Amino acid sequence: MTEVAIVGAGLIGLAIAWRTAQRGVSVTLIDDQPERAASRTAAGMLAPISELHYGEQKLLQLGMRAAQRYPEFVAQLREASGIDVGYRRCGTINVGLDNDDHRALGELFDYASTQGVQLQRLRGRECREAEPLLAPSVRGGAAVESDHHVDPRKLLAALRVAAESAGVTIVSSRVQELHCDADQVHGVRLDGGETVDAPKVVIAAGCWSASIAGVPLAARPPVRPVKGQLLRLKAPAGTPFLRHTVRGLVHGAPVYLVPRSDGELILGATCEEQGFDLRVTLEAIYTLVRDARLLIPGITELELVEISTGLRPGSPDNAPIVGPHGPRGLYWATGHYRNGALLADITAAGVANLLTTGVLPSELAPFSAHRFATFSLKTSQRWPS
Ligand code: GLY
Repeated sequence: MTEVAIVGAGLIGLAIAWRTAQRGVSVTLIDDQPERAASRTAAGMLAPISELHYGEQKLLQLGMRAAQRYPEFVAQLREASGIDVGYRRCGTINVGLDNDDHRALGELFDYASTQGVQLQRLRGRECREAEPLLAPSVRGGAAVESDHHVDPRKLLAALRVAAESAGVTIVSSRVQELHCDADQVHGVRLDGGETVDAPKVVIAAGCWSASIAGVPLAARPPVRPVKGQLLRLKAPAGTPFLRHTVRGLVHGAPVYLVPRSDGELILGATCEEQGFDLRVTLEAIYTLVRDARLLIPGITELELVEISTGLRPGSPDNAPIVGPHGPRGLYWATGHYRNGALLADITAAGVANLLTTGVLPSELAPFSAHRFATFSLKTSQRWPS
């Protein structure tokens, strides 16, 4: 018997396991394929302002709170794990390549300004002063000094060490089904027939969260896979290739470049509604390289180290799905879509509080799992059981 069973050992599941175990609760974390976590592919941008989309005010506020607490989070994680997670406070330059891109970004920055965020508009020349490798044709943009990044693979490794040090039991097995009756969760059954008995189960299985057998149809969250393809490049000198993260709009298409301290440069990413498809496509890679080269002509000199694909857990409003829903003892932490690294700790702290005191902090209240209850009832037949 464990007090809490968590399904899914990606960033969200690991962070919840760690934060919950820190409160003296016995936790078992179950995942047979942690390597398929979206965070293994993710670039790790901590960029609530640069990632802002129209209509996402509540997500912006949550993201800005999460970004503020990041220094404390990485310091605590380093203390607990001994691992440096590559948190680089380099800011982000957002640029538009042509006049239309510049105008579209300008309108988005106008909207961002109404939400009380800090950004600095830049002319083309000023963009290049800030980031000398940008192409002369870049029309203009804005700097966001508070949007940084972290290395999600290092974050995964650190959270795993921290969770295990805090007493979390990690089980490498497939969850066959949730074990529950109409009123109460009892744990999970694993492949092979054994059970993990627990009065509380947290499902943090990313885009697979809606597919776990045994979960009542009406309780399943409307998460879906949103495919991302990206490239890992390497600068020869082993120093950051760019001073800042660069996000660009190139003839209407978004592209980003995330420079790590050790010379790795992440070039991403597609956003594809292709179901559970992890194939690499030449179209995606060609388009990313072509558009990135228009922004930073020098990138084609770099070594291509890896092409990765991952499946983000998308939700209907692009925001996470957190909290109880369904039989007593069943909790959700999924739907983090493009913001898993940013929101991992704020989600984990909130869920740990929920599990131990029954209270979901007010900052997470707008992201309750109940908000899609009607939606789930209407559409749940579409998900496999
Ligand atoms: N947050 C970046 C991405 O999802 O591609």
